[in-house]
Amino acid sequence: METVRLRGWIHHTRKQGKLLFLVLRDSTGLIQAVLKPNLTKESSLVVAQELARESVIELVGKVREDSRAPYASMEIQTSSIDIISRSSPEIEHELRPDSGVDVLLDKRHLVLRGERTRRVLMFRSETLRAFREYYYRKGFVEVTPPTIVQTEVEGGATLFKLKYFDEDAYLTQSSQLYLETVLPALGDCYCMLSSYRAEKSRTRRHLTEYTHLEAELAFCDFEELIIHLEDLIVTVTGNLFDEYRDLILNFNPEFDTPKKPFRRLPYGDMIDLLKDEGIFKPDGTPYEWGEDVPEEPERTLVDRLGEPILLTRFPKHMKAFYMPPAEDNPQVTNSVDLLLPTVGETIGASQRIHDLKLLKDRIEEFNLDPSPYYWYFDLRKYGTVPHSGYGLGIERFIQWMLNLDHIREACLYPRLINRVRP
Ligand code: 4AD
Repeated sequence: METVRLRGWIHHTRKQGKLLFLVLRDSTGLIQAVLKPNLTKESSLVVAQELARESVIELVGKVREDSRAPYASMEIQTSSIDIISRSSPEIEHELRPDSGVDVLLDKRHLVLRGERTRRVLMFRSETLRAFREYYYRKGFVEVTPPTIVQTEVEGGATLFKLKYFDEDAYLTQSSQLYLETVLPALGDCYCMLSSYRAEKSRTRRHLTEYTHLEAELAFCDFEELIIHLEDLIVTVTGNLFDEYRDLILNFNPEFDTPKKPFRRLPYGDMIDLLKDEGIFKPDGTPYEWGEDVPEEPERTLVDRLGEPILLTRFPKHMKAFYMPPAEDNPQVTNSVDLLLPTVGETIGASQRIHDLKLLKDRIEEFNLDPSPYYWYFDLRKYGTVPHSGYGLGIERFIQWMLNLDHIREACLYPRLINRVRP
């Protein structure tokens, strides 16, 4: 049997007659250590009995293969332990099995140490890596634009305004406009940064600060954009599923990797489908063309269809100023949202207007002050090309893959309408 030296946190202890079981935790997971007379130094046995959970120890022992052992198919036969730091016994009163959501969020710094949260956050790290790998292989460049800005991107209703010394500024809603400026210099590019939305509503999929994966592609028309999005989602979910199959199925036993091509549903057809499916407004009347379909009915529809949906061709007045009209119908835009079952909209994408006059007209129609956009106009003035891009909410993507009830589980410290701590 191999002798090992492990350092970690006491996750849990259990006494059984003369035996003491310690479950030790480190960044790689949990392992059970057994302490008993004749095997463990007496002083270590005495000390171990009184250690509170979350004390940190260094343990020396022999590894015994044991397929029945919990957590790992091995157990440590402990010969000695040294204390690195003692935790307070008050730990037992911090969290209870019946603690409510607010307590769990107030104590999230401790909740993180639980196995479920640890695994979600580890999966989150692997998700960021999987996206970065995808872009690296495709030759995209990562950039990190500033998040304090003077331009709104997705409408004034969700802007966080702030005073920037003597000027007005916002926390960014999207880095898209900056990514567009990068195309003539570095080519296809992406960023993974916080975006901010002053969302007034409480839902299970809205944060006020979220991790926004955004990419921009030069010489890319609407059809090429859709093909890229399908490839991105199929490749990244496929790679994650290959590497983390057990973890994903443990959270989400029904999970299956999506297959290309995804179903495309023009906005107008969705309105018809809502009627056919008997999904109506709260007053019992059907949704009409041109009306915004709220989150719930939209999700009900995707859940019924049970597969990723590319919702295309939104009416012009419902979408952002930078989206161009479709060639065959100026009332609708070259825009597409990717809707995923259980979560709904996870990607917002479109071609971008590359014609200067059209862009200026749209900025005017939206009643936006054009002056802060001078640099955005210059892109159209000095060597403009057809281009497209998108934003994906990392937390929603994880929520979908792991079938998490609430988006707050998919981030380290959620920022919600009533919560900015810890
Ligand atoms: O559809 P949105 O608003 O698109 C944009 O911001 C584009 N300018 C992005 C781009 O083209 N570069 O947001 C994109 C995605 C949504 O599909 C959703 O996944 C996520 O960002 N998102 C949120 N995630 C969590 N909480 C919120 N409040 C979110 N708002 C948007």
